[in-house]
Amino acid sequence: MKSLSTQVVIVGSGPSGLLLGALLHKAGVDHIIVERQSGDYVLGRIRAGVLEQGTTDLLDYVGVGARMHHEGLRHDAFALIFKGAFHRINISDRQGGKHMTVYGQTEVTKDLMDHRSKLGLQTIYEAGDSVAVHDFDTDHPRVTFNKDGESYEIKARFIAGCDGYHGVCRASVPAGSIQNFEKVYPFGWLGVLSDTPPVYHEVTYSNTERGFALSSLRSNTRSRYYIQCGMDEKVENWSDDRFWTEFKTRIDPDAAKRLVTGPSLEKSIAPLRSFVAEPMRFGSMFLAGDAAHIVPPTGAKGLNLAAGDVNVLSQAIVEYFQEQSVAGIDNYSSRCLRRVWNAERFSWWFTSLMHKFPDTEGFGQKIQEAELDYLVHSEAALQSITENYVGLAH
Ligand code: APR
Ligand code: PHB
Repeated sequence: MKSLSTQVVIVGSGPSGLLLGALLHKAGVDHIIVERQSGDYVLGRIRAGVLEQGTTDLLDYVGVGARMHHEGLRHDAFALIFKGAFHRINISDRQGGKHMTVYGQTEVTKDLMDHRSKLGLQTIYEAGDSVAVHDFDTDHPRVTFNKDGESYEIKARFIAGCDGYHGVCRASVPAGSIQNFEKVYPFGWLGVLSDTPPVYHEVTYSNTERGFALSSLRSNTRSRYYIQCGMDEKVENWSDDRFWTEFKTRIDPDAAKRLVTGPSLEKSIAPLRSFVAEPMRFGSMFLAGDAAHIVPPTGAKGLNLAAGDVNVLSQAIVEYFQEQSVAGIDNYSSRCLRRVWNAERFSWWFTSLMHKFPDTEGFGQKIQEAELDYLVHSEAALQSITENYVGLAH
C-alpha cells in the first residue's frame, strides 16, 4: 500500500471540494482532493447558475473571479408570472444594492479546476467506488482507495466530506450518530439548455394551471429553461418540439409569441428534494455542501449554501492549525445548520408557492394565486422574498 499524508483530505471535487481546497491553500493549509470520477465527468454536469454576492465574494477572495466578472451577468431583479401576467421584482433597490450574478455552476467548477492546476494542487481523479473513510472518531483519520491496481492510504488530521448527496462520507457515519430530515416532492424538473436568445433577460418563475416553469439563461445567446414534470416522466418521451410546445403555455402570451426555439444542447430530468443531515461534524470529519443538505432548485440556493459551508469550515480549520483553537471546529455544525435551515425553509416555501401539487387541485391553485397577488402588492412581502433571494446575512 502506498501511504501519503497531508493536513486535510477532501473527498469530492465538486464546487464544495474545489472551493474548500482553494480557501485552505490560500491560508497555507495542505490538502489533497480524492474524486471518484474523472475531471471531464465532473465538468459535464449542468446545474443552476445564480450566484449570491457572498459566493462571488469568496470566488474573488481565492482569486478565481476574473472570468465570472467578464462573462457573468449582473442581475438586479427576477420576475414572477401568475394568472398569465408578468411581475418584475427589483432586488437591489430593496436590499441596499445587493444583486445576483448569473454564471453557470459548470463555469465556476472550471475556473476552480484551472486555478488548481495552475497552482499544482493535488487532485486524485478516478478513485472510483473504492474510496473509504476510517478512524474519524480519532485525531488521525485516514482515507483509502484503489487506483490503477494500486492501494493507497492518505493520513490526515481532518476529512472534509464534499462528496455530494450519494457520497461515502455521510454513509459511513453510524446510524445512531446522525439524523436525516427529508421531503421528496411529487414532481421533477425537465431542463433544456439551448443556443437561443433568452425569452426574458432576467430569471422568471411561472405559476400556471399546467404547472411550474422557469426561464433562465447562461448568456445573451444561451437559454436555460425548465418545466415541472411528473416524477416518473422519461426524458426520451420529451422531443424538443414537445418541450417547446409545453413551455410556451407556461409563459406570458407576449413572451410566447417572441420565444425563439432551437435544438436542445442538453435535456434532463431532476427530482426535487429537501434534505438535511444533522450534525455536520463527526469527530475529525466534516460534511459540506450536498453531502449534508439538498434544497429543491427553486431559488437556486444549492451552490450558495455549499459556498457558505466551506467558508465556515476553512476558517475553522485554519484557526485550528494557526491558533491551536478548537472553537471554530466545535461550532461548525451549529453555525452552518442555522443558515442551512433558513435556506431550506425559503426553498421549500418558494417551491410550494410555484408548483402544481397533485393533491390540492383547484383550491391549491387559488390559494397560490392569492398569495402571489399579496406578494407582488405588499412591500413587506417583497422585502421578505428579496431578502431571502439575495441570501440571508449569516
Ligand atoms: N469518493 C470520492 N468522490 C466522490 C464520492 C466518493 N465515494 N462520491 C461522490 N464523489 C464526488 C462526486 O463525483 C462529485 O464530483 O463528489 C463530488 C460532489 O459534488 P456535487 O455533487 O456537485 O456536490 P457539492 O460539491 O457539494 O456541490 C454543491 O452542486 O449539486 C449541486 O445543487 C448543488 O449547487 C450545489 C452544488
Ligand atoms: C438556472 O439558471 O439553472 C436556475 C436559475 C434559477 C433557479 C434555478 C435554476 O431558481
